[in-house]
Amino acid sequence: MTKMNKNIYPVFERIIKRNDKEILLKQNAVAIWLTGLSGSGKTSLGVNLEKKLFEHNYLTQVLDGDNIRSGINKNLNFTEADRLENIRRISEVTKLFINCGVITINCFISPTEEIRQIARDIIGRNNLIEVFVNTPLNVCEKRDVKGLYQKARNGEIKNFTGIDSPFETPKDIDIEINTENSTVEQSAQKLLYFVLNKIKKTEH
Ligand code: ADX
Repeated sequence: MTKMNKNIYPVFERIIKRNDKEILLKQNAVAIWLTGLSGSGKTSLGVNLEKKLFEHNYLTQVLDGDNIRSGINKNLNFTEADRLENIRRISEVTKLFINCGVITINCFISPTEEIRQIARDIIGRNNLIEVFVNTPLNVCEKRDVKGLYQKARNGEIKNFTGIDSPFETPKDIDIEINTENSTVEQSAQKLLYFVLNKIKKTEH
């Protein structure tokens, strides 16, 4: 439990409202949250989706595990506690973007229900589109784009998701993407059509 800070006087109500910023940007801000194993294709999908949304004149920000962990979260590791803190901070950052009217595309393993619940509690379920990038472990391991599964099998990396750290199948999702038998392009198209009607701003 985080301690409440004393001597802090937030000014949230004096800042220009989210809805006014959304009107300016002509979009509804949401977080498109991609969960799935390492190597499941979250980043490829997220990057492709961002490009498509940009072509449709939507302003987005991709928040990606490896990027965030080389910046704001560079002091965190892969213990359960650090993964919780990783997602807690990312969720707070996401909330800032959403309040600014910006759509975020979040690519994080977010391996457990407890972790995903933190994101829901901070961001709000209504502000989230939860996507399960469902690529089986054996496929991710065969791809092994970063060579990390091999290292985990050799014992060079500890707490690796799917090997010696859990990944719980997500329950409360909005859309599932199976990457095994489709191209990144096909998966991104499917996701694009799913999100388009949710981010389209109707005037008022
Ligand atoms: S999360 O579990 O806290 O949500 P996150 O998405 O930020 O993970 O980071 C995952 C990325 O970190 C992986 O894609 C991989 O490149 C790298 N990584 C390094 N070590 C591990 C590990 N032990 N388990 C999972 N991913 C790891």
